[in-house]
Amino acid sequence: MNNFKELALKYAKEKNSRIVLALDLYKELYTLPLKIRENERKNLLDSAINLLSNIEDYIAGIKIGLSFSLCVNLDNLEEIIKNFSNKYFFICDFKIADIGYTNSLIIRNILNIGFNAVIAHAIIGFKDGLEKIVSEAKKFNAGVLALCAMSHTGAEEFINKHYIELLEISAKSKVDGFVLPATYPLYISNARKIYPWALIFSPGVGAQKAAFGSAINNGADFEIIGRAIYEAKNPKKEVEKILKEMNR
Ligand code: XMP
Repeated sequence: MNNFKELALKYAKEKNSRIVLALDLYKELYTLPLKIRENERKNLLDSAINLLSNIEDYIAGIKIGLSFSLCVNLDNLEEIIKNFSNKYFFICDFKIADIGYTNSLIIRNILNIGFNAVIAHAIIGFKDGLEKIVSEAKKFNAGVLALCAMSHTGAEEFINKHYIELLEISAKSKVDGFVLPATYPLYISNARKIYPWALIFSPGVGAQKAAFGSAINNGADFEIIGRAIYEAKNPKKEVEKILKEMNR
C-alpha cells in the first residue's frame, strides 16, 4: 500500500470521519480588493487557521485549491501545512493538466511545501501525462488523484461522457484514486465495481445539492465538503451534524 492511501485511511479511522474539507473560504476571497494588502492576507490566514483548529477532531483531510493558494501565497501555505501536518492529510487541488515536463515542475513545487497528494486531470492521457505525474509524485511518497468526471452540469457535455476511458487511463497510470462527482452517483458506483482498490474522493455534497453521505453510500471513500462547512455560522456544530447524517 502506498503512503498516501495509508495516511488518508489512518486519519479517517482515528477521527471516524470521511470528510475532506475544501478550504476555499470563498466568502472571504470574494470580498478581497483586487490587489490584496498584507493585513487582508493576514486576516485570511487567521480565518483558515482558526477553522482548521476548530474542527480538527472531525475532519480527516484538507483540500486546497488554486484560488486560496494564490491569495495566501506559497510560503504561508507551507506554514499552515507544517502546523497541521500531524492533524490532517493535505491534498493540492490545482487540477494539473499540462504537458509532462511542465507538470513535473508544478508538482515539485507543490510537494516541496508538504502536500500529501495532488489532483490532476485524467484527460491529459497516459503517455507524458498521468504516468509522468505519478512518477514525479512517487519521489515524494505522495499520492495522485485523477479527475475523471465533474460535478457541474456542463461536465455532462463532454468530460463525463468519457469517464470510463478516463478511469482506464488513470488505472493504467497507477494513480492512487479518482475524483468523481456526488452529483452523478452512477459514476461512483461503477468506478467502485471496476476498481475496488482505488480511493474515491467525491465533491458535490452540500452546496452542490447531493445529500451528505450519498457518495459514500455509492462507494466513495471520502466526501469533499466546502461551503456547507466554512460558511456555516458554527462550523463545528455543522460538521457534527453532517457526520451524524453521513453515519446514519
Ligand atoms: P463545495 O463548496 O461545493 O466545494 O462543497 C467543493 C470543492 O470541490 C471542488 N469541486 C470539484 N473538484 N471535481 C473536482 O476535482 C469536481 O467535479 C468538483 N466539483 C467541485 C470545488 O472547487 C471546491 O473546492
